[in-house]
Amino acid sequence: LFAGEVEFLKGVVAMAGLPPADRAEVCFAGRSNVGKSTLINALTGRKALARASNTPGRTQEINFFTAAESHYIVDLPGYGYANAPVAVVEKWQRLLKQYLSGRPTLRRAFVLIDARHGAKKVDEEIMTLLDRAAVPFQVVMTKTDKVRKSDLEHSLGLTRAALARHPAAFPELVLTSSEKGEGIETLRAIIAGLG
Ligand code: GTP
Ligand code: MG
Repeated sequence: LFAGEVEFLKGVVAMAGLPPADRAEVCFAGRSNVGKSTLINALTGRKALARASNTPGRTQEINFFTAAESHYIVDLPGYGYANAPVAVVEKWQRLLKQYLSGRPTLRRAFVLIDARHGAKKVDEEIMTLLDRAAVPFQVVMTKTDKVRKSDLEHSLGLTRAALARHPAAFPELVLTSSEKGEGIETLRAIIAGLG
């Protein structure tokens, strides 16, 4: 699936702008700055396909990428970011929630969680929304290159405890580092398997 070209299709700012729901779709959700866009770049082997940045709130639209004409890969705006104007944040959050609960072809949502911190309250809010919408989701821990082993154990514990509370969650989580390449092949295989 990722061997060929993955291309940017469009950035969407309202539900009416979504492309036709005509193929398998996976999306990347998570707190601002957790590494969603960077992970998409790592998966596709392209440095700057999805725009990543040190500044939280970088991705402000729902960005659609096509892979092998069979899948959409979707980069979402982050949540839990307080430093943007309230009206702007509310607009993104509303769109994010509408998308996550109203996309019939969404096969799996990947919920990204920083390996240094573990699941937070805002992450659980998104998980609850996915439960209600019956969207299967899987947690991807990011930035494992930045965490000490003892801290990782702690945040894995927090995250597993959170997952146990959410019926739509896959019990297995994926450990990744976009920097070091950890977990990238595993994630590619998971996505390719979602026909
Ligand atoms: P928003 O679009 O603002 O929601 O953020 P995002 O989740 O898309 O995060 P983004 O991919 O822009 O990455 C945020 C910062 O984290 C950037 O400076 C990345 O270089 C860094 N980053 C992402 N993944 C990793 C990783 O695996 N390891 C390390 N060390 N840094 C990472
Ligand atoms: Mg982003």
